[in-house]
Amino acid sequence: MKICCIGAGYVGGPTMAMIAKQCPDIQVTVVDLNQTRIDAWNSDDLPVYEPGLDEVVQEARGRNLTFSTKVDEAIAAADMIFISVNTPTKTFGMGAGRAANLEFIEKCARQIARVSSGHKIVVEKSTLPVRTAEAVKRILSSSGNGATFDVLSNPEFLAEGTAVEDLLKPDRVLIGGESQEAIDKLCDVYAKWIPRDRILTTNLWSSELSKLTANAFLAQRVSSINAISALCEATGADVDEVARAIGTDSRIGPKFLKASVGFGGSCFQKDILNLVYLCEHFGLREVAAYWEQVVSMNDYQKQRFTERIVKTMFNTVSDKKIAIWGYAFKKDTNDTRESAAIYICRDLIRERARVVIHDPRVSEGQIRATLTEACTDMQGNISDLDKRLIAENVSVAKDCYEASKGAHAVAVMTEWDAFKELDFTQIYDSMQQPAFVFDGRNLLDRCQLEKIGFEIHAIGKS
Ligand code: UDX
Ligand code: UDX
Ligand code: ADP
Repeated sequence: MKICCIGAGYVGGPTMAMIAKQCPDIQVTVVDLNQTRIDAWNSDDLPVYEPGLDEVVQEARGRNLTFSTKVDEAIAAADMIFISVNTPTKTFGMGAGRAANLEFIEKCARQIARVSSGHKIVVEKSTLPVRTAEAVKRILSSSGNGATFDVLSNPEFLAEGTAVEDLLKPDRVLIGGESQEAIDKLCDVYAKWIPRDRILTTNLWSSELSKLTANAFLAQRVSSINAISALCEATGADVDEVARAIGTDSRIGPKFLKASVGFGGSCFQKDILNLVYLCEHFGLREVAAYWEQVVSMNDYQKQRFTERIVKTMFNTVSDKKIAIWGYAFKKDTNDTRESAAIYICRDLIRERARVVIHDPRVSEGQIRATLTEACTDMQGNISDLDKRLIAENVSVAKDCYEASKGAHAVAVMTEWDAFKELDFTQIYDSMQQPAFVFDGRNLLDRCQLEKIGFEIHAIGKS
């Protein structure tokens, strides 16, 4: 059996590496239009940082795992084709800012239709609006060269930073489809390492909708606890204590209740906005408004954090140096998509602060590019002032010590473990006084820092 995966990104790369590792008898080819990305997958410096991924790729690459830019060739040879391309939020036209841009999915479907012969199983791996498979099926069936197709939906639930662990021991694998034979073929692939009772099968539409729903529920939990964090700050309750108290109720559960500076990542906001757009499309205005509030709450949390910094620092951060610890949207990843740090840094430099950023995995180029994007409007315009602020008021440091030297404040944006084990006395001595810490992840030991002399402000703690 031969598998081809179109799209060598955060989802396609690791998922296919795991399939290849677990199924030595299956030839897996991952293709992408982006030559640089493919070259990186073929090098020792993979384009995606995930703990344990290097070993998985090394084991299978060259044996039954290939990364290539020969898209047509790989599609033509495959029995099963995964579509794992990006589905960003549309930035133009109808549904701009909400609907998913399905351009890349549609192009893949047309490409598959064009180069295929015989029978193939096409698997939607990318997160898609419900009923996308309908469009995919129609495009495929118009191929005109006699090829036949079954379409399956097999959304990926891995989280970044724990991708290898999640792929190895998923809570469940979800496969939606119409043809039992096609479903069974894909089940057999996963069953090589995942217990059968963890492989759920549903109809196509339930599978497509479950992915959006899972992400919406997860994001909603974060927004819910973040909403409570604001109330904690106002009342003297402690959000970590509240989270522990409610999390022991088995109906609520303890996971995903960590108050933070706001959720980020490529999925949550995009998928909720997509869900909102879908609800509106089906005339369900109240349902759309309900889910949209999860994103509004997240925006509020980020904005609230910046405001707290400014207010606490005597209502001005102008010309003050603020050390930003962490820029990735969470620990153990180099991904910065929708990271709260982007928006907080943007708002701080617009207050004329000087930010000095350190993240162990994020490059200076990526930091500047994301800030530039955050200052650019839908029409692609960026003001001269924002350009100047990004050039002059943003710098990047090699570690937290360098970032904090001479700083008026430290703001923790990402919960990197290494940030907990620093010499805080040295940091304190190198900073301006009073030395403020704004802990956006409730990561640092408050008592220890206060003893040293820091003034610490954490999420959901007064
Ligand atoms: C609730 C809390 O569960 C309990 O911890 C608290 O002390 C008091 O309030 P109660 O109102 O007795 O308890 O009933 P509960 O079982 O929570 O159900 C509340 C309502 O939600 C019911 O109308 C129930 O039918 C409904 N419900 C519950 C659903 O519609 N779906 C569900 O999945 C669960
Ligand atoms: C998410 C889903 O977890 C995953 O199942 C899906 O396949 C893709 O989207 P990911 O975006 O990689 O995964 O990361 P996740 O761990 O879910 O965190 C998302 C954001 O929420 C991060 O910014 C994280 O810091 C934040 N978060 C998460 C909190 O602020 N508090 C929490 O308790 C949990
Ligand atoms: P995800 O997080 O969903 O994996 P990424 O943006 O990381 O998304 O990866 C998607 C990949 O799909 C990108 O590397 C992009 O170049 C690739 N891609 C998009 N369209 C096509 C296409 N028609 N053929 C091949 N690769 C594609």
